[in-house]
Amino acid sequence: MSGTETSSPKSHEGPEESIGLVGVGYVGLPVALAFARRGFHVIGYDTNPAHVAALQNGDPEVVTATADELLEALKVGSFEPTTDVSRLDHCGAFIICVPTPLDPGGTPDLSALQAAARMVAQHVQPGVTVVLESTSYPGTTRDIFLPLLEQRLGQVGQDFCLGFVPERIDPGNATYRLENTPRIVGGVTATCTDRILALYEHVVPQCYPVSSPEAAETAKLLENSFRNINIAWVNELMRFCDEAGLDVDEVIRAAATKPFGFMAFWPGPGVGGECIPVDPRYLTWRARRARSPLHLLERALDTNDWQPFYAVQQIQYVLQQSTRPASEALVLLIGVAYKPNVADVRNAPALVIMERLVRCGIRVVYHDPYVSSVDINGEFCHSVSLSDDLLHEVDLAVMVTEHANIDREYITRETPRFLDLTHGD
Ligand SMILES: NC(=O)c1ccc[n+]([C@@H]2O[C@H](COP(=O)([O-])OP(=O)(O)OC[C@H]3O[C@@H](n4cnc5c(N)ncnc54)[C@H](O)[C@@H]3O)[C@@H](O)[C@H]2O)c1
Repeated sequence: MSGTETSSPKSHEGPEESIGLVGVGYVGLPVALAFARRGFHVIGYDTNPAHVAALQNGDPEVVTATADELLEALKVGSFEPTTDVSRLDHCGAFIICVPTPLDPGGTPDLSALQAAARMVAQHVQPGVTVVLESTSYPGTTRDIFLPLLEQRLGQVGQDFCLGFVPERIDPGNATYRLENTPRIVGGVTATCTDRILALYEHVVPQCYPVSSPEAAETAKLLENSFRNINIAWVNELMRFCDEAGLDVDEVIRAAATKPFGFMAFWPGPGVGGECIPVDPRYLTWRARRARSPLHLLERALDTNDWQPFYAVQQIQYVLQQSTRPASEALVLLIGVAYKPNVADVRNAPALVIMERLVRCGIRVVYHDPYVSSVDINGEFCHSVSLSDDLLHEVDLAVMVTEHANIDREYITRETPRFLDLTHGD
């Protein structure tokens, strides 16, 4: 799969080199700041003017790294957020971190990626290194980026370098951050891989080279699909345990005492965020196009997608024990972010649960210390404060996502009925 290599492209020139970071969101910002910290000049290009203005002002709302880091990088001028594409004209490297969502039909929406590829191709210079970090289907780097760059610059591995380095950010994870998480590097040619390794070794402790961008793209999707499949399995097991009168947590804890060959996953109200429910669909989509469908993964995705509706059934069942008819019941959801200790509600199961309850005519309020409001069926709903009065008034309090700063003991003591959708440690 390697291209012809007759000479090495311009080698990395050192910390004075500037990097064009395209898409400065959850993933892009920490990457931008990591390179800025190591002496690179990082131009953070993003198409969202409000987001760029917030970055320029060091607004803590947009910060997925530490606010201090952002302010420091802005102060010393090592990080420059902008909507001005011309600022990218002299970059020695480009790193692309734009979104790769699904369209309403559940198939990959590559529009941001394609727009970024076209834009980058217009601003690259000979000798440039282009790295894609956005998660996508195996073949994306070669299909979408390579032809545009070849047309503009010539021979890959000779006139420019191109490769895929999958992002591994885990929002809210204080232990594993960009600086101590190994990265996979797959260049289009061996020279591309070497060049990208030399770049990333400035900011990450360990890089693992693979033979192609496709190997790196597939490894990333294997990681996310592994989680999706295992979560689907314990979600299904939980339904069985509920029917059989068993405590699924007790069962998983018991199995987890085996010191080899087992890894504990926990059931829940469903999977959320931009990765676990979304990225595996890039793989199933590509596999169907190759006439090699991934049935197990497709079943897992469907199982997890259905899990919030199972939670709604559980809620309706508990509400039957209330003296008020369901149509007058008031339900309090606690924690609407898709995982503990973050403010991210993208694809959050809590939103599906809220929408469904509202559609069933049940009144719903929510409390989340990190999420001040959410949009439910086009209407803004605001987080309510926890109080004795509220907890006495509701028919049921449901723990959907347990943030560390939620007082579980207080809620269970004051509320007449409590349903816990969380599991595990
Ligand atoms: N969030 C995560 O935890 C996570 C983890 C691993 C991988 N990923 C992957 O990383 C990629 C980025 O995800 P994210 O969570 O950072 O998304 P995000 O929405 O937080 O950020 C993407 C940014 O790109 C900007 N953008 C959109 N189109 C653009 C364009 N054409 N040019 C320049 N900027 C553009 C948006 O305005 C936004 O600020 C996705 O492929 C995602 O699957 C995300």
